[in-house]
Amino acid sequence: MDALTLLHERSSMGKLMGPPPGPEQLEAIYRAALRAPDHKELRPWRFIEFSGEGLSRLGELFAEAEYREDPHVGDAALDSARKKPLRAPMVIAVIARVTPDLIKVPKIEQVISAGCAAHGILLAAHALGLGAMWRSGKYAFDPTVRKGLGLEEDDEVVAFIYLGQLGGRHKPIAEHRQEDFVERWV
Ligand SMILES: Cc1cc2nc3c(=O)[nH]c(=O)nc-3n(C[C@H](O)[C@H](O)[C@H](O)COP(=O)(O)O)c2cc1C
Repeated sequence: MDALTLLHERSSMGKLMGPPPGPEQLEAIYRAALRAPDHKELRPWRFIEFSGEGLSRLGELFAEAEYREDPHVGDAALDSARKKPLRAPMVIAVIARVTPDLIKVPKIEQVISAGCAAHGILLAAHALGLGAMWRSGKYAFDPTVRKGLGLEEDDEVVAFIYLGQLGGRHKPIAEHRQEDFVERWV
């Protein structure tokens, strides 16, 4: 697949199945992530890879977040939280590891850079014929989850990327009118 076709045709896949990406695929995926644009070479990112029992541990963290938010939460909601990471054989949390108070590289730039790393993961996964879906959801912003993943105060969870083999067909790609988004000063 040539580079422009990849950029034009990447698409998300919510239906994912095992096996998880193999070591060579993961090497290519992280290599793409680590090529993200990065002002002052801060490398403002951290990746946590969950598979196997790790997915259940992440689910437990989501359930704990529900409980801490509302100790009267029902079993169904706890169970639903626990099962969320099990929708894929692998989840990669992309975390912006933010160095605060840098005048030349404010927090927003560091978070954007981590977002570009997340996009790199999606693109590499697509190029490898894998399925991937960028999710955030409320757990990305939850204090219990943040603490459980070891975030510092200024860090942000940028993405939970669900990864695996394609479990369905890609949806048709919506074409957008470029004139609706592009202004030209000439
Ligand atoms: C920062 C961010 C967070 C997202 N969080 C979610 C999410 O929690 N749940 C979801 O269904 N889609 C989420 N999405 C959107 C999907 O990843 C996906 O981009 C969207 O469904 C459009 O599909 P496409 O990527 O094939 O165009 C998120 C996207 C971004 C950029």
